[in-house]
Amino acid sequence: MRTARYLAALFGLLQIALASDTTADGDTFVCQHPPYRPQLISTSPLVVYLHDFITPEERAHLHRATNGTWRRSAITSNTGGARSAVRTSQSTYIPRDPVLACIEDRALHFQGEAVPRASLEPLQLVRYAPGERYSFHSDWFGNPAYTSPAAGGNRVTSFFAYLYVSEDMTGGGTNFPMLEPKRDAAWCRILDCDDVYENGVTFRAVEGNAVFWQNLREDGTGDPRVIHAGLPVVTGEKIGMNTWTREAAPWTDGGDQAYPEV
Ligand SMILES: *[C@@H]1O[C@H](CO)[C@@H](O)[C@H](O)[C@H]1NC(C)=O
Repeated sequence: MRTARYLAALFGLLQIALASDTTADGDTFVCQHPPYRPQLISTSPLVVYLHDFITPEERAHLHRATNGTWRRSAITSNTGGARSAVRTSQSTYIPRDPVLACIEDRALHFQGEAVPRASLEPLQLVRYAPGERYSFHSDWFGNPAYTSPAAGGNRVTSFFAYLYVSEDMTGGGTNFPMLEPKRDAAWCRILDCDDVYENGVTFRAVEGNAVFWQNLREDGTGDPRVIHAGLPVVTGEKIGMNTWTREAAPWTDGGDQAYPEV
């Protein structure tokens, strides 16, 4: 009996040892999924708000790991990748490390157990300084040139997580103009209730929280109701993270593929 208990304890320790790993900046990291809280924003299109989706430890690590790696964001338009006034933020990709793998696991698990890791695009981080924004766009591609199986297919779902919001940040919400606005005051902590009714739903940038939505309709076509914009940051700084799940699964484990310019 006692032996069994010792073995169980040993096995528990072994599991922790296996799950923990060292990141490039020397942190020992144990992947522990937070008890995040989902809240339905819309059923059609499916939009879910996720409270406390990224832990403070994960956010601090990503903030450090991306320091000095930022460059001007490109966009993929129907004419190809380009730098544009439509998107004035900065972006970066960092190599998959234990922290990113842990967040990927969470994002996959949220979508059900059948979604392969290789269908996740490398996680993209974006930074907005004063005046920077991303005008109305969809995450799904309208141009079939970007949705071949080899290119990954189209983007089925999106998570946008708020990783860092400076104390002095103003502006910088995420606006979905086609969503039905909510007027109950209980929503005002996460939604901008000062926005006019015609503007739909604007999520405030709240550190650690994320918005999840479905990009494609049942027939596989892009859903125009999930167009959205990163509103200009007026003061301060915001760092967010995009997690895109694609129809195909070309990103084999290891993350050494060329990162897409999107
Ligand atoms: C980024 O790097 C600079 C210079 O090395 C340092 O002063 C700053 O504290 C770093 N910021 C973060 C968030 O790690």
